[in-house]
Amino acid sequence: MLEFFINGQPVQAEDNQTVMQAAKANGFFIPYFCWHTHLSVPGNCRICTVEVESDSPGGGSGWLDIACNMPVTRGMRVLTDSDKVRLRRKETLQFITLNHPVDCGICDKAGECTLQDYHYEYNGEPSVSRDAKVTATKFFPLSERIVLDNERCILCTRCVRFTREISKTNALGVQSRGDHSLIRAVEDGAFEADPYSDNVIDLCPVGALLSRQFLHKARVWYLKPTPSVCPGCSRGCSINLWHRKSEWKLKNLDAGQNARIARVTPLENPAVNGPWICNKGRDLAQIFERARADHAMQKGRPVELQAAIALARDLIAAARQPVALVSSWGSNEELTAFNTALGQRFACHVKADWQPVAGEVIADDVLIQPDKNPNRAAAIALFPALPKTATDAFPPDTDLVLVWGEGFSFAQLPPKAKIIYLNSYLQPENGHADVFLPISVQTERSGHYTNFQGTVTGFEACFTCQPGVVDAQALFAELAPVAVLAPGVSS
Ligand code: SF4
Ligand code: SF4
Ligand code: FES
Repeated sequence: MLEFFINGQPVQAEDNQTVMQAAKANGFFIPYFCWHTHLSVPGNCRICTVEVESDSPGGGSGWLDIACNMPVTRGMRVLTDSDKVRLRRKETLQFITLNHPVDCGICDKAGECTLQDYHYEYNGEPSVSRDAKVTATKFFPLSERIVLDNERCILCTRCVRFTREISKTNALGVQSRGDHSLIRAVEDGAFEADPYSDNVIDLCPVGALLSRQFLHKARVWYLKPTPSVCPGCSRGCSINLWHRKSEWKLKNLDAGQNARIARVTPLENPAVNGPWICNKGRDLAQIFERARADHAMQKGRPVELQAAIALARDLIAAARQPVALVSSWGSNEELTAFNTALGQRFACHVKADWQPVAGEVIADDVLIQPDKNPNRAAAIALFPALPKTATDAFPPDTDLVLVWGEGFSFAQLPPKAKIIYLNSYLQPENGHADVFLPISVQTERSGHYTNFQGTVTGFEACFTCQPGVVDAQALFAELAPVAVLAPGVSS
């Protein structure tokens, strides 16, 4: 450790830290565009300029330098907000905005744009240039998922470095020079195929890289993030699910939007995913917003939820050889509730609810895991896995099978066994069960998943359950054939 001074205050820094790192670690603000905690340091935007006071005996005026690439030295004295620093940042912003359009009114990044924020903090004046702005391509199709507005690009190269250093596809580069520079994708389709490409949307400090899914769909200040966990694979990346704030609910316009996922972004978690997620995580609405089952059924005929629960309870009580196929998408809490209420009653096996789909990246050495189920680790800690030949799970006299979650073909069930089916989505199998019970999805409940490394991460509810849909955690206690008492409670 070594001591130096920021704005006159003594500060401890680790050896080899830069002024930017030490300032951030000690709560001092220095603006930045091109610098990022997980990328290399190009030092190209110059907005992080600070003043280093001279320590020569005769004094002297000191100098200006960039904080992101300047190592801390013992006793150095740094000013982060002096008049000289503010003037240099103003000049830098005048330069950066020379050719930047005044697009904020229609830009998706408004509300999250650091160029906008720093402009108001350090510049706040129109361009002093006598020349017309250089124009460039707007809404350039960078990939099926991303459009690029080259006029808004400030050439920080974060997106380029991401594909070189993190996703390792080398898919983006800078074409041409000076004010003709353009970010472009290499022509071999590597950016299209990069399963992490959408991270450049978050990385871009301005509104140059835009998600086609989210383009002009919502202003970010109408949305709120709920912390969650991506169930797309057993990595269990921490994410924010963005949805409409209750005070900005749409009434007549499109009320359905109030209960939809507007976008998904990474929630930085050093133990699991760092600051990144893959594109599958961005597309979770395609999983959660499939047509939902919202009616209990008896052999395909709609019945009241409580009647269906009573029927299922009777089937469980009467069964002599019941088997349960346990979900690997159930939360830790649901799995515990199942084990407490029904674990002794059934011969249990953990099944995979979800398999890789065609074209999906199966696994890599960045984040993506081959198991496309978020909580198999917790389920397997309680119950054995389904045998390779699934029918081996059913003894010849199996008379009841409880199937929890998706992914198991009913054709493999013993033909004479009764079926209780718990699922969230509208699927043909629902109508074939003796009792079908619609259960909530992850966005409607809170809980935890245990990932493939044993790291437990929590998720919170962002929407309420529809009437007629039940939480599996509460349901299991109701299905127990005899009352299950909480530990320490005597009958
Ligand atoms: S597109 Fe965005 S992230 Fe890429 S260089 Fe331009 S400003 Fe930086
Ligand atoms: S790596 Fe797995 S858990 Fe992470 S975002 Fe992708 S699918 Fe989701
Ligand atoms: S953040 Fe230091 S030069 Fe860009």
